Amino acid sequence: MAGKSKPKPEQVGRASELRELLARHNRHYYELDEPLIPDAEYDRLFRELLALESEFPELVASDSPTRRVGGAVSGGFAEVVHGMPMLSLDNAFSDQDVLDFDRRVRERLGTDVVVYCAEPKLDGVAISLVYENGRLLVAATRGDGAIGEDVTHNVRTIASVPLELRGSGLPRRIEVRGEVYMPRQGFLELNRRAQKSGEKAFVNPRNAAAGSLRQLDPAIAARRPLEMYAYGIGQASGGELPDRHSATLQRLREWGLRTSPEAALVSGAEGCLVYYRVLEARRDALPFDIDGVVYKVDDYGCQQQLGFVARAPRWAIAHKFPAEEQLSQVEAIDVQVGRTGAMTPVARLTPVFVGGVTVSNATLHNFAELKRKDVRIGDTVTVRRAGDVIPEIVSVVLARRPPGAAEVAVPAVCPVCGSEVVQAEGQVIVRCSGGLVCPAQRKQALRHFASRRAMDISGLGDQLVEQLVDSGMVKTAADLYCLDQMHLSALERMGDRSAARLIQAIDASRKTTLPRFLYALGIPEVGDATSRLLAREFGSLDKLAAASEEELQAVPDIGPVMAAGIAAFFRQRDNQQVIADLRKAGVGWDESAETARGSQPLRGRSFVLTGTLAGMSRDEAKARIESLGGKVTGSVSSRTSYVVCGEDPGSKLARATALGVQVLDEQGFLALLEQQA
Ligand code: IVH
Repeated sequence: MAGKSKPKPEQVGRASELRELLARHNRHYYELDEPLIPDAEYDRLFRELLALESEFPELVASDSPTRRVGGAVSGGFAEVVHGMPMLSLDNAFSDQDVLDFDRRVRERLGTDVVVYCAEPKLDGVAISLVYENGRLLVAATRGDGAIGEDVTHNVRTIASVPLELRGSGLPRRIEVRGEVYMPRQGFLELNRRAQKSGEKAFVNPRNAAAGSLRQLDPAIAARRPLEMYAYGIGQASGGELPDRHSATLQRLREWGLRTSPEAALVSGAEGCLVYYRVLEARRDALPFDIDGVVYKVDDYGCQQQLGFVARAPRWAIAHKFPAEEQLSQVEAIDVQVGRTGAMTPVARLTPVFVGGVTVSNATLHNFAELKRKDVRIGDTVTVRRAGDVIPEIVSVVLARRPPGAAEVAVPAVCPVCGSEVVQAEGQVIVRCSGGLVCPAQRKQALRHFASRRAMDISGLGDQLVEQLVDSGMVKTAADLYCLDQMHLSALERMGDRSAARLIQAIDASRKTTLPRFLYALGIPEVGDATSRLLAREFGSLDKLAAASEEELQAVPDIGPVMAAGIAAFFRQRDNQQVIADLRKAGVGWDESAETARGSQPLRGRSFVLTGTLAGMSRDEAKARIESLGGKVTGSVSSRTSYVVCGEDPGSKLARATALGVQVLDEQGFLALLEQQA
């Protein structure tokens, strides 16, 4: 259909606007190492322009960002003309895109099944390394694809880039291509140091890597934790090269270069998609950021047959993971009052799909953070959600701030109960001083008390807690045990049956364990691991309540702040009263069990094992899970708590990811066991 109709004036205008926008973002991304918008937003603009151009080819300008790669070459560095252009990759955002890619490849090659080499798509900076007679001659960035910047002085400082290649069969001159990246740990440390010394922090590891490579002084780059993986060969002369990509990777390794250990051969689109799921599940466990997977036709003969279009090869595609950063708008900034009175500003956002879920709230942690990030109502912000981490606002897009965008100040009184707001000296946390007078604190305390790892009262959801507190029926946790069915049934949306079930659940929670009870009390800073520790060390509630700060501090892992907090909690009259009331209401546990048997911290959680663990046999893993109260089952369902994934996992892993079940690698599994011990 292309070219049949003429573009409307607004489409012509939009195309030119998009070209300008993309050029500006390219400059911020590639040349200034300071992107203004998330990658996903860039991709969206890019695709919008691509769609317009493919519908109306007359809109394609020779300098369109869709025809070229990356940024321009800036001053300060010598230029390097690439022997072969450094191209980009087309993107696939869905399974369907991958199926379409594979179909196009098969059709062009006239074959039934294609073997692909699948690799992680590292989120770093593309690099070209020219070796002559085995010695590193020049290292250059991609630049605009044709001409890059000479960053040899900096690349020489990267330990994983060999200055000399070893082994046999080396071409006289060879250009190795790969990605320079900064591992996440190194990035966090770098930013911590930068913040301490008042320097500007980097937005993400990729920008940190790019910024480090573009230092004029190699001494600075040398202090940056950069690493490199090689993923291919550019131009080569004076030697024989393998005829398949996977063999090239093998050869690069033999010559002393690092290549991605995750690279694997897969068969057809099906194989690609399984690889994608497996890697996606491991994404957070990898020590560096990846933003997707690259599939490359393995056979070079086939690659040649397929050739290139505009800026990308037809024989490869990047299958992107759901973006971890997106733009959204701040509709309001509310103040939430937590269980201990801590007041947290929370941004209410226009719902946005990010990191695989829809996000409509992002915590700003505290008022100091709100001020530092300068988030205002009406702002356009970059929202990030990586792995299971709570969504956060990374930064504000200042260029899109509406005039008069309102700042939010620390409230003078608690917005929920009107009590005075206090801030301890030297602390960032601002608190409501209302204690259990404050309905917000009361509600949070009750929610915590009833939560799964505490008293595990199912059916006592957020809404019900609201109703119970707002109606005045429940003030403290002990009041829960005085509720009767008649009063409960009178609540809105509460039928007789649910009331009866709730009464039953409350009743069942009377028989508990000491660690659960301690955790349920909501002692500041005492989580479930510490509760178990305290139960084990002191054996009884009375002994713990009577313990001095010194005695508490004698427990390993209990520091002075926590010891003081625990002692103060048990000294407080209101707390003593609630504990006494709870015990009077029949809440109790078998104290002899605490020291003898431990507290079965994995009770109620089910595990599925797949693949081979390096450090223990399956029986051993099963025994350890069961000794902590957990259960091991053979197949994955939505009720599975964890899938433990070793080497060569089976289809259980794909099923786990499809169902959204949490996947633990060996390290994660060991850490979980350790936590419970
Ligand atoms: S192959 C002709 N393999 O992704 C295509 N690229 O748009 C050559 N990247 O900045 C690229 N990991 O540096 C390839 N395993 C991988 C990669 C990879 C990351 C980067 C590349 C470029 C971008 C492609």
